[in-house]
Amino acid sequence: MKKILIVAYIGVIAIIACTPKASPTATDAIIPLATEVSTSQETINAGQVIFTTKCTKCHKAKDKAVASQTYEELRPVLASMSKKARLSSEEVKQVSAYVFENAKK
Ligand code: HEC
Repeated sequence: MKKILIVAYIGVIAIIACTPKASPTATDAIIPLATEVSTSQETINAGQVIFTTKCTKCHKAKDKAVASQTYEELRPVLASMSKKARLSSEEVKQVSAYVFENAKK
């Protein structure tokens, strides 16, 4: 009986350990792809306002971190940061446009 319990326990641990934490498509669902991101100046300006207000609640504006990485590298960061900053989907669109404009090309 004990053996069965131990085997069951190990099985449960293995299932938990092997479940991916965040699916790779989670970022795609939230942050626009480079081909879809808005390039309108109005949206970029709105994004800058969000970047310099909502994103600085926790840390200084990450201008250098943005400028030194490509948009593709920054998308997963943006996905988690947008959640942290509790941005609306409209704000996500705007801040993505700003980051796209300022990311490493
Ligand atoms: C709830 C707190 C919080 C909010 C709000 C937040 N961040 Fe962050 N951010 C962090 C923490 C913690 C780190 C990691 C430590 C650090 O670099 O300060 C980080 C790191 C970063 C980095 C650096 C990642 C790297 O590759 O070095 C970037 C870029 C960034 N944040 C962008 C943003 C943007 C854009 C927003 C607004 C949409 C935002 N953050 C809002 C907490 C936050």
